[in-house]
Amino acid sequence: ELGVYEDFMMKEIHEQPEALRATLAGRLDAEGRVDLSETGLDLRHVNRVVVVACGTALHAGLLGKGLIERLARLPVEVAVASEYRYADPVGDENTLVVAISQSGETTDTLAAVEAARYFGGKVLAVTNTRGSLITREADAVLLTEAGPEICVASTKAFAAQVAALDLLALELARVRGTVSDDELLSLGRDLRRAPEKVAAALALLEGKTEAAVELFEDARCSLFLGRGPAFPVALEGALKLKEISYIPSEGYAAGEMKHGPIALVDEQCPVVAILGEGVLREKTLSNVEETAARGANVVAIAREDDAAADRVGRVVLCVPDAPEILRPLVWSVPLQLLAHDIATDRGLDVDKPRNLAKSVTVE
Ligand code: M6R
Repeated sequence: ELGVYEDFMMKEIHEQPEALRATLAGRLDAEGRVDLSETGLDLRHVNRVVVVACGTALHAGLLGKGLIERLARLPVEVAVASEYRYADPVGDENTLVVAISQSGETTDTLAAVEAARYFGGKVLAVTNTRGSLITREADAVLLTEAGPEICVASTKAFAAQVAALDLLALELARVRGTVSDDELLSLGRDLRRAPEKVAAALALLEGKTEAAVELFEDARCSLFLGRGPAFPVALEGALKLKEISYIPSEGYAAGEMKHGPIALVDEQCPVVAILGEGVLREKTLSNVEETAARGANVVAIAREDDAAADRVGRVVLCVPDAPEILRPLVWSVPLQLLAHDIATDRGLDVDKPRNLAKSVTVE
């Protein structure tokens, strides 16, 4: 079943283009038009969105929040399901609750859905598992089509969740009229290129992680930094690394470094920095320069031929240029490969990390 791959994690990382293609199929046409009528939801009266999820699904939710707020101008709260379930949450019947769960069986996420019932919110389940418990609890279902994910560390399911939330953001923007038709179609056509761009990232990064892996050989801990859409990607990169390599790793908004975490930085605390684009790239660069000045070995995630990345990074992992909506997916690829290669370099079983289960059906 593994084919040419040494483990399921590597296989599933490489299945991301197909997971994206299948998740977008039938929901996004060649002109860039989104069709989510399969959910049967009337989104016209939605005045607030609450995302409930755990772990990687929560990070997909944070990316969804950024896009929904920017395009559909709706307030979005992203809640850790295990907290939300006991939080006496606020909402009304116009609150759309988006519950994200690869397995569809996560106890805390199911309980968070139940908590949302008290205020009458409509629940949309974004799940990878047909017939799972969450599909029965929710009012509507948007299936991610990543196929079975065996590795405990989620990769292709995450990509599919991000794509599903991109579709939802475009649909909410259309219904609310917050983005012009032309711009919506153009964003839709960009989104259609997700499989191609993620495949390009995989091709570009093939066999390129060795120097970065070396920087982690004596690592005590590590920091993952990003701003804007790169921040949730940093959180996800840190989760991936800690769960399979057991190196304490934290994701931080790059601008928060000076408020505490920079005290951790030395030669044994590598910093993985997603530089991003535009104004935020400049800001991130200056935050990362501060860590480099304090001895951090920096792995910079940047576009090819980025001279500033070469200056700040001991190692640069290059990603292809991509439309804005696709960048989080593209940035995730080097972080997944890095986590995988650091863990296998340590001789660890990446598919079955210690103390973890694929599906967390206990509280
Ligand atoms: O099945 P779910 O999406 O509800 O699972 C949520 C988390 O348990 C899961 O994403 C976990 O964080 C992964 N091990 C991350 O790689």
